[in-house]
Amino acid sequence: MFEAILFLLLTFYCQFLVEATSSQCSVGPEEFEWPSQFVRSGAANIRVLVQGSGPAVVIIPSYGRDGGNDFNRISAALVEAGYLVLRPQPRGTLGSTGPMRNVTMGDLTADIAQVIDTLAGGQAIVMGHAFGTLVTKVAAANYPEKIPAMIVASAGGLYVPDNIAQTPSIAGNTSLPIATRLAALQLAFFAPNHDAHIWLDGWYPDTLAMEYTAVESVPSMTAIWGGGNTTQILQLIPAYDPFLPRDQWNQTTDMFPDRVVSVVIDDASHALFPEQNQAVLDAILPWLAAQSSKLG
Ligand SMILES: *[C@@H]1O[C@H](CO)[C@@H](O)[C@H](O)[C@H]1NC(C)=O
Ligand SMILES: *[C@@H]1O[C@H](CO)[C@@H](O)[C@H](O)[C@H]1NC(C)=O
Ligand SMILES: *[C@@H]1O[C@H](CO)[C@@H](O)[C@H](O)[C@H]1NC(C)=O
Ligand SMILES: *[C@@H]1O[C@H](CO)[C@@H](O)[C@H](O)[C@H]1NC(C)=O
Repeated sequence: MFEAILFLLLTFYCQFLVEATSSQCSVGPEEFEWPSQFVRSGAANIRVLVQGSGPAVVIIPSYGRDGGNDFNRISAALVEAGYLVLRPQPRGTLGSTGPMRNVTMGDLTADIAQVIDTLAGGQAIVMGHAFGTLVTKVAAANYPEKIPAMIVASAGGLYVPDNIAQTPSIAGNTSLPIATRLAALQLAFFAPNHDAHIWLDGWYPDTLAMEYTAVESVPSMTAIWGGGNTTQILQLIPAYDPFLPRDQWNQTTDMFPDRVVSVVIDDASHALFPEQNQAVLDAILPWLAAQSSKLG
């Protein structure tokens, strides 16, 4: 009975949203929990989950995934610590829409810049996870004045082993047998003894394909590796992340010794956030406090 009433209320709320914003809306409890705003960026309409107030932290998720449930706990903790947390959802996920073919990294970073201008007063610290670190780096390179500092969590190395590089396209291909996808998740995304099943859900094959194409539009990874010329960088290195073999742990600090801090997170692999939320938080809070005090 209670559920039926809740569903009716959600449906009415959704109709209201659709009429108010001409945007898509689907009823799902997980979506209802997130206060959202839509930001137009060219032909795209980006749904941003908006929580808290204070200096802005923008979170960009990994290949083929949305920026919802995986980041609920870290977002709540950042709100508690006094930040405005903005989670722009990738095109094709959780209500974000826009062109999905021939999209470049320039298009995706323009979406982020528009979100920072519209909701963060023009400046933010951006935290990317995995593929999201590439979006973050290119965004910081293209808009250095908007993004003076960035967190790169589970950034792969410049040289990712071939068998590992293809695992997102296996884990995120929902047409493949579950056993195959689970093996890819266990190999490349979750540390030994962590439950990889939790990432069988939450994949968007069309978004993944769009993002693969966008990565191909980056002419030189080394040129964007440090973001802008003065971008301050916190690198989170999961100890069991096969996208960043141990012999590349020092790659980024060696390239930019004067502006990179790196922290190794033990007992975690590429997925990181669902594996070690508290350790991530402990690593980022002191650095965020120092960097956010410099925001204009
Ligand atoms: C995408 O680019 C290809 C060639 O690179 C072109 O044939 C195709 O028409 C383009 N598609 C769209 C939707 O622009
Ligand atoms: C997903 O897997 C199916 C089944 O093997 C395959 O036909 C399809 O090409 C795959 N899709 C992508 C995008 O790789
Ligand atoms: C960043 O550094 C490169 C290499 O030193 C230089 O060519 C480029 O002009 C610099 N960009 C800016 C915006 O200062
Ligand atoms: C990486 O850097 C640390 C600290 O600077 C150093 O102790 C370690 O030997 C370096 N590792 C490699 C493989 O160069």
